[in-house]
Amino acid sequence: MSLSNPLRPADTGAEGLSHTVGATMPQHFDPNDWKSVREQFLLSPDLAHLSNFYLASNPTPVRDAITKYRKAFDEDPHSFLDDNMFGREADMLWRTVCAEAAEYVGGRADEIALTTSTTMGLALTYNGLRLKPGQEILTTTHEFYPHHEAIRLAAERWGGTMRTISLYESSPDFSVDEAVARIRAAIRPNTRVFGVAWVHSNTGVRLSISRVADVIADLNRDRDEEDRVLLVVDGVHGFGVADEDVASMGCDFFSAGTHKWILGPRGTGIMWAKPENWALLQPTIPSLMSKETSAAWRQDRRPVGPTEAAWMSPGGFATYEYQWATAEAFRFVRQIGRKRIQDRIAELNSQIKEGLAVMDHVTLHTPLDPELSAGIVTFDVENYEPRNVATILRENRVIANATPYGVSHVRLSAGIVNSPEDVELALKVIRSLKGAGA
Ligand SMILES: Cc1ncc(COP(=O)(O)O)c(C=O)c1O
Repeated sequence: MSLSNPLRPADTGAEGLSHTVGATMPQHFDPNDWKSVREQFLLSPDLAHLSNFYLASNPTPVRDAITKYRKAFDEDPHSFLDDNMFGREADMLWRTVCAEAAEYVGGRADEIALTTSTTMGLALTYNGLRLKPGQEILTTTHEFYPHHEAIRLAAERWGGTMRTISLYESSPDFSVDEAVARIRAAIRPNTRVFGVAWVHSNTGVRLSISRVADVIADLNRDRDEEDRVLLVVDGVHGFGVADEDVASMGCDFFSAGTHKWILGPRGTGIMWAKPENWALLQPTIPSLMSKETSAAWRQDRRPVGPTEAAWMSPGGFATYEYQWATAEAFRFVRQIGRKRIQDRIAELNSQIKEGLAVMDHVTLHTPLDPELSAGIVTFDVENYEPRNVATILRENRVIANATPYGVSHVRLSAGIVNSPEDVELALKVIRSLKGAGA
């Protein structure tokens, strides 16, 4: 097994890969110019891509990294994997991804686990938490399917229960004060976990995770350590949108795909938690990123020490060209700047909301206030099924969708690849639906 890392310039001469993939970005890329940002994507210029919440198109440096890694795998899969996954631990490429993710969340690399999606991270979290008999997981009625389902499956496995509460009746009038009051009132002595989404994908509401964390910290003051309420966050629609340090928000476990707003490769994601919280979890899937768990197996003993983030990164060989290229996605969004991205997304989505708010055949579900929303806008159009509105938009070159919830709405979602002209095109189509339909 080689101890050298062929991706490091020192080992490969002038053309080391890992430290030079960013250098393949066209010389003219200007992270301060939105037009130049858009030019980094292969998105069809004929369409207004207003479904940015869904699955990212990857910018140039991410695509280049994937291509380089894939070529290296195809040329010599054994050596490339061995040298970059199992060689000198400190140099392994997954560590680069963890380091970039840590920088982005304002935490430490050893607090990051690498997953394939938000769903994977949520499932590993709930499955790994051992509830005591009679304990419950509290969540909200606003969660998306994978969050509810991860909780249901874990509660059934551990013999616990699942309970849902609503944080608001009317999403456009969403109030953080009211939401946190409802959470405080709903937590019972047997509540062990509160699981909630940062941004609700059926209403576009953005919750203040730090306000929720404050309430929970307050309630935890009177609880024993093993009974404290743990805050689990489905962070996918805030991650890459909101200019906040996830590691300072006060949640206990955070899961987000990096294939949406972080603009990373498809099938990638991260989990973040502090070491004392990782220690509460039992891994579900054997890890290839932990020396201790595999050494323990070879030596026919139990792993020694508390569970660490690396133990929770699910193993089995992965699509490594994708996983490792995630580092480039973090670099790309950091190069543009988290605050600038937040402001741009707020500006474009405000344009959508304000445009819809004055149409009397439209019911807007997302709060107008950018502090209470993020990159998702949902609404209904009088006399139209949401899916029919999405179809009409698409026929008019606007990519939108209908939310896949029990009660569906039309959803638009502007990101940094968009322009005010994209938004205006969408508004024009929706305006034209007035007085038409069923
Ligand atoms: C709120 C929410 N959570 C989780 C997911 C699933 O994300 P992933 O595909 O990363 O598992 C979605 C999908 O868009 C979502 O809207």
